[in-house]
Amino acid sequence: MLVLGVETSCDETSVAVMADGAIVSLRIASQAPLHSATGGVVPETAARRHLEVIREQTEQALLEAGLTARDLDAVAYTRGPGLLGCLLVGSSFSQGLAMSLGIPAVGVNHVLAHIHAAFIDQDAIFPLLALVVSGGHTSLYRFSAPIMAELIGETRDDAAGEALDKVARLLGLGYPGGAALEQLAASEPTEAWQFPRVRLSGGRPDFSFSGVKTAARQAIAAGAKPAAVACGFQQAVVSQLVETTCQALLASDRMLVVGGGVSANQALRRAFQERVRSRPVLFAPLRLCSDNAAMIGRLGWEMLLAGIKTPLGTAASSRLDTLT
Ligand code: KG4
Ligand code: ZN
Repeated sequence: MLVLGVETSCDETSVAVMADGAIVSLRIASQAPLHSATGGVVPETAARRHLEVIREQTEQALLEAGLTARDLDAVAYTRGPGLLGCLLVGSSFSQGLAMSLGIPAVGVNHVLAHIHAAFIDQDAIFPLLALVVSGGHTSLYRFSAPIMAELIGETRDDAAGEALDKVARLLGLGYPGGAALEQLAASEPTEAWQFPRVRLSGGRPDFSFSGVKTAARQAIAAGAKPAAVACGFQQAVVSQLVETTCQALLASDRMLVVGGGVSANQALRRAFQERVRSRPVLFAPLRLCSDNAAMIGRLGWEMLLAGIKTPLGTAASSRLDTLT
């Protein structure tokens, strides 16, 4: 089955051609340079840029795959969550394309798709525990099957990537700053600034990063060395992600899967590998950690196999918290 994947939830316009869940071609047009001037994504600017480039991205993806739109069997697009104006560009384009070709369209949950990025080239064994750690989300899911997932914990305030971006901005590292903060933390051997280790009580494996972000702001104001702040803050974020996730692991979980933009972080990967020895830890491949249409095409393909389609006119949803 040939599926066109379309992702426009935030600041990447991405289109992929997928054959039975495998990547044939993948285009990712990042808007990061456009948003670095404002230090964050301006929703309307982002939506307008999606509109400007989505058609060309689609034509290029098809060209690189050696196919035409007539060869496609279905279109899978991000239905939510995300910035509504951005989602509307991708969903309207995808529904219109599917209608003109007489093929089905399927609207996909972006957060769950981050986990499916790890399933494209690697075998998953269910049930499994999955952590999505990105600029917009920090959420734990238990997957009993590829399209059966239950949310079991999430951040109560900032997402991990959002907190990393804010501290990176305070350190003058630009936007988005997660990767630059990782580089600064690794650049000079220095004593890491000690930040509090947050462990929330209440039974649910939830996360919180706003307190430690404030502590970083105070450390910077107090004149702490930037590399020491970067190193200590990253350690505090990684430690909370790893420990809370490990607490949520059940004996029945066959593996742990980690996806989302922050899962590109090498310190996070090392910490999970060292801490979780009892079962395999699967990470999304580096090029598929950040937003991309391959993960959307992959989850859309699984949904289509299960007979799920999204009727024309179904609204995009900025707060989508279900599969469809
Ligand atoms: O998944 P993603 O592309 O977008 C969302 O769905 O949010 O994630 C973007 C986030 C940003 O916060 C960015 O700073 C972070 O992923 N990120 C990283 C690294 N690379 C990207 N954070 C830490 N270390 C990295 N190497
Ligand atoms: Zn994302």
